[in-house]
Amino acid sequence: MSKSGEFRPVSESQIVLKELMVPSYENFGGKVHGGVVLSLMDKIAYACAASHSKCYCVTASVDKVDFLNPVEVGEILTLYSSVNYTGKSSMEIGIRVVSENFHTGMIRHTNTSYFTMVALNKDTKSPEAIPGLLLETDEEVRRFLEGRLRRKVRKLQRHELDQARSEIDYDVSDSSLEGENCKVVTPEG
Ligand SMILES: CC(C)(COP(=O)(O)OP(=O)(O)OC[C@H]1O[C@@H](n2cnc3c(N)ncnc32)[C@H](O)[C@@H]1OP(=O)(O)O)[C@@H](O)C(=O)NCCC(=O)NCCS
Repeated sequence: MSKSGEFRPVSESQIVLKELMVPSYENFGGKVHGGVVLSLMDKIAYACAASHSKCYCVTASVDKVDFLNPVEVGEILTLYSSVNYTGKSSMEIGIRVVSENFHTGMIRHTNTSYFTMVALNKDTKSPEAIPGLLLETDEEVRRFLEGRLRRKVRKLQRHELDQARSEIDYDVSDSSLEGENCKVVTPEG
């Protein structure tokens, strides 16, 4: 299953990224743009996945991102990343983001997300087999099993969504949108 029976320790590709939240990151509400945080998460996911696979990788999917707390300008953001699960060519990277306020010393959990990264062959650009994970602690085993479960759930959700979409009745001339916050003004509507 893994690239030529090769397995690499989780600890070898764990990466920590720290960045000061400068004023140019501010949004209209005076907080840090969510997009800045997402961009940092994508960067660290790439670094972690490329470090494990030693391949060029792309982001295939991002599990839900809930911002639990706003990030303030002037805080230090720390992102912790780790390969949780390895498939044949894909990896689930777990990312935990915390913000730290220097003045108060307060550390807050901003969010935790899971990025699925796929390793690609540099010539053909098709998915490339990656090394497996060497699981050395109970926590690494727990993360691997939970990563496997999330992968299964993602596949099921994609399938269920496709199925549900194929069953939508797009004829809204009746009262099928009653109670929704919209008004149909199409020529047919
Ligand atoms: C991700 C991508 C390489 C998958 O290509 P594909 O031809 O569908 O490849 P496969 O079906 O063989 O799947 C390869 C692996 O990716 C995983 N995968 C594919 N689509 C996925 C998705 N939407 N979410 C999570 N995993 C996915 C598969 O489960 C498989 O994992 P495994 O090898 O560990 O079993 C392709 O869809 C792609 O290039 N997407 C664009 C990625 C990109 O440009 N990202 C940056 C956006 S700015």
